[in-house]
Amino acid sequence: MATSPSLTDRDTDADWREIGASEPFWGVLTNPEFKSENLDEAALKTFYGSGVDHIAYVAWELGMLTGGAPFHVGRALDFGCGVGRLTEAMGSFADAVTGYDISPGMLATAKAKSAGKPAYTGALPDGPFDWLNSYIVFQHMPPPKGYILLDQLLERLAPGGYVSLHFTLYRDAHLKPAEAPPAPLLNRVFGRAPAPVEPPSGSVLMYDYDLTRLVETFNRAGIGRLNLAHTDHGGHHGAHIFGKKEG
Ligand SMILES: C[S@@+](CC[C@H](N)C(=O)[O-])C[C@H]1O[C@@H](n2cnc3c(N)ncnc32)[C@H](O)[C@@H]1O
Repeated sequence: MATSPSLTDRDTDADWREIGASEPFWGVLTNPEFKSENLDEAALKTFYGSGVDHIAYVAWELGMLTGGAPFHVGRALDFGCGVGRLTEAMGSFADAVTGYDISPGMLATAKAKSAGKPAYTGALPDGPFDWLNSYIVFQHMPPPKGYILLDQLLERLAPGGYVSLHFTLYRDAHLKPAEAPPAPLLNRVFGRAPAPVEPPSGSVLMYDYDLTRLVETFNRAGIGRLNLAHTDHGGHHGAHIFGKKEG
């Protein structure tokens, strides 16, 4: 769903608490097979299997930052872990993994489905971490909040640590917010804007970030080496950013 500037103040955490309580799997991947009424063993296998494939690719990208050496680290954090789709798979590439999320329903499901290695928490854990991972998470929160959280994450990155973080940057024309209708004459005279239309609670909203600001933030945190891969989720375009902090 497209956003308008009026949604910058929205409490998207509340949306995700609602989604986590009602449709935790579909809230992560919006295919009909992951709706609670359709979810069977085969769908669960597909769901968590997609995390294994994704993290194998991420580990390959991170290994390329050091010339293709096999990637393995000590402590890893999965920010916005959802039901543990990626967190569980990260266990193959880290000695210890923590999944953090603001949605209690997501965390409860992650714990119920866990193979046991990761720890799951609703409080942003202290660092240092050797690997910070986040995928399709920042896109769902207003950028002013996202930039603050990114700073808080990067403060927790150990020297020589790795990042694999995803941000949306722009969208196809059909997903751009509609122009606000012209204000009625009286409102224009008295300077009142038309009331914004607020999406219902529990909506999955999308927000775009400023790549220049992101690169500056990474550089200031000591991450000079950055590789970037394009993502396109139904016309929402983003950057999957892979980086390594100076040791
Ligand atoms: C689309 S899901 C992605 C889950 C997981 N990263 C994956 O790819 O399987 C987005 C997740 O981000 C979480 N989230 C949203 N806002 C958050 C915030 N401010 N802090 C932490 N997690 C957040 C949601 O609760 C949800 O679990």
